[in-house]
Amino acid sequence: LARGGTAPDLAGRHVVVSAGGTREPLDPVRFLGNRSSGKQGYALARTAAARGARVTLVSANTGLPDPAGVDVVRAGTAVQLREAVLKAAADADAVVMAAAVADFRPAAYATGKIKKKDGQDPDPIVLVRNPDILAEVSADRARPGQVIVGFAAETDDVLANGRAKLARKGCDLLVVNEVGERKTFGSEENEAVVLGSDGTETPVPYGPKEALADTVWDLVVGRLA
Ligand code: CTP
Ligand code: CA
Repeated sequence: LARGGTAPDLAGRHVVVSAGGTREPLDPVRFLGNRSSGKQGYALARTAAARGARVTLVSANTGLPDPAGVDVVRAGTAVQLREAVLKAAADADAVVMAAAVADFRPAAYATGKIKKKDGQDPDPIVLVRNPDILAEVSADRARPGQVIVGFAAETDDVLANGRAKLARKGCDLLVVNEVGERKTFGSEENEAVVLGSDGTETPVPYGPKEALADTVWDLVVGRLA
């Protein structure tokens, strides 16, 4: 298997990577968001480009500079991310969902800023479910043999939760991170286990996000062949 991102083993392939975290607006100045930095997704985009792929990076609220040689599409909310991923996935060989997609969004958007009212408790925020993009691209593959990869951060029973999630989502590979002390959002490093729908388990030791990215592409290339 190719390692280190030097072999052009993704030449002629189109891959889609989502990165960052969605923001779900409440009003023109406020949103519900998450702490995803986008660094793992950007590392996936850079390493895929280095291996010869045409890369579409669907980027949600990262503030990171565009990687060279990568098509960057911006998406703010989960609904926008879904549109951008489905469009790019139509002719893709692989789709990697590294973005943290908000599970819920506010049921209503206030077109004007929400104001305090004297002596009154705030109105509760009502949430509705967002579409599950990973489950959707896995169920309706845009082309036969398309490889779909998800990410999951788990705290307890990491592997058991990961296995159940892999089955529920219907993807081919699930990169499972244990969320803990060293493994914080925004860090340059990561440690993970990549679960395969074929029952395989590939541990990736604590190290740079590029190394995890290259292991993901090794596993994708193995499934594309
Ligand atoms: N994901 C997605 N659309 C959503 C939620 C999640 O595409 N609405 C994708 C993420 O990009 C990630 C994978 O699904 O690749 C797993 O996300 P995770 O939040 O771990 O899964 P959930 O099914 O939302 O489970 P949980 O209830 O544990 O949050
Ligand atoms: Ca979730």
